[in-house]
Amino acid sequence: MRHWDVIVSMLAMVIDVHTHFVPQFWREATTKAGFGKPDGMPGIPAWSEEAHLELMQQANISKAILSITSPGTYLIPGGYHEARRLSRKSNEFAADLKRRRPDQFGFWAVLPLPDVEGSLVELAYALDHLNADGVVIFTNNHGIYPGDKLFEPVFHELNRRNATIFIHPTSPCIYNNNNDKDAPGQHHHAKQQIIQFQSYPNPMLEFFFESARAITNLFLTNTVNTFPRISYIISHAGGAFPPSVERFSYFASALLDLPFEVTSDSVKEVFARQFYFDLAGLTFPDQIYGLLRYVGARRIVYGSDFPYTPGKDVVGIAGVVDEGIAGVFPDQFDRENIFSGNAETILARG
Ligand SMILES: *[C@@H]1O[C@H](CO)[C@@H](O)[C@H](O)[C@H]1NC(C)=O
Ligand SMILES: *[C@@H]1O[C@H](CO)[C@@H](O)[C@H](O)[C@H]1NC(C)=O
Repeated sequence: MRHWDVIVSMLAMVIDVHTHFVPQFWREATTKAGFGKPDGMPGIPAWSEEAHLELMQQANISKAILSITSPGTYLIPGGYHEARRLSRKSNEFAADLKRRRPDQFGFWAVLPLPDVEGSLVELAYALDHLNADGVVIFTNNHGIYPGDKLFEPVFHELNRRNATIFIHPTSPCIYNNNNDKDAPGQHHHAKQQIIQFQSYPNPMLEFFFESARAITNLFLTNTVNTFPRISYIISHAGGAFPPSVERFSYFASALLDLPFEVTSDSVKEVFARQFYFDLAGLTFPDQIYGLLRYVGARRIVYGSDFPYTPGKDVVGIAGVVDEGIAGVFPDQFDRENIFSGNAETILARG
């Protein structure tokens, strides 16, 4: 018997916190708004409840916490009404899956950000009436990053509720410091989030930098300490964030003149209290090591990224993880926490 067979068969369950549902009405709405090839990908993958259950069986996933992925629900600049409607419909759809299969499905509710007022209504409805497990927030919301002052009422409310935010990447929509005449602007939502660099699909590289930008902004606005009861799950083992920590900490003290201190040690303290990182993507055999300078096994959770990672690749990657994980986490207890225990802790908060 290969050693990973032993490991997998000893795991009672695997909880997948990074995986997506693609309802037909959302596919139609995003396609109509120009996101039929989202983030420079060839198309929106096929999805059905049955296909998801089948994947779960193949990949030994006992429970999937579903979310809407990029581009989210705010699709047209100024289209607040449509964004609210699409968020509600998406959340109702996911809630129905969870209601019918509570042991197999949970969900992160989508919000119509950057519409703050609409998001406050939706998060209350999703957490109080739809039994959502937390919310998904994108790395930027038409150019506005988590931590922005504009979003403070939303973070205040999520903090009051001890909520979990799953931070998911989307395409960049950033200020260009050298050329601010075309900058999208932080507080007007004039630009669709379809900036694409060098004709590569944005998930390949830009999603990693988006995660780095979003988390860095949470630290450099002190949002992490202002709202200490929010937990975050960061996609793809943090993307490009781990190698950026020393650098932004240095910039914070040397150049930014912030009224609070950020050091790599303070980042580690916040991580140990509030942050989780998922294993979606090719985090094994190599990427995981950068993250391990900052967190231990209690802060790592499993993610498949199905169906944006096709089923056969989810199974293939699971094999790579199983092959490498015993070397990185020799303790069986640590591996159980990564595959389910930590996710159970997160879900128990919701
Ligand atoms: C799922 O579990 C079975 C039985 O323990 C094992 O043979 C199989 O390799 C596992 N599949 C994956 C993708 O880990
Ligand atoms: C949030 O957590 C704190 C500390 O554990 C607890 O006192 C408070 O009741 C919780 N609030 C909610 C709304 O669950």
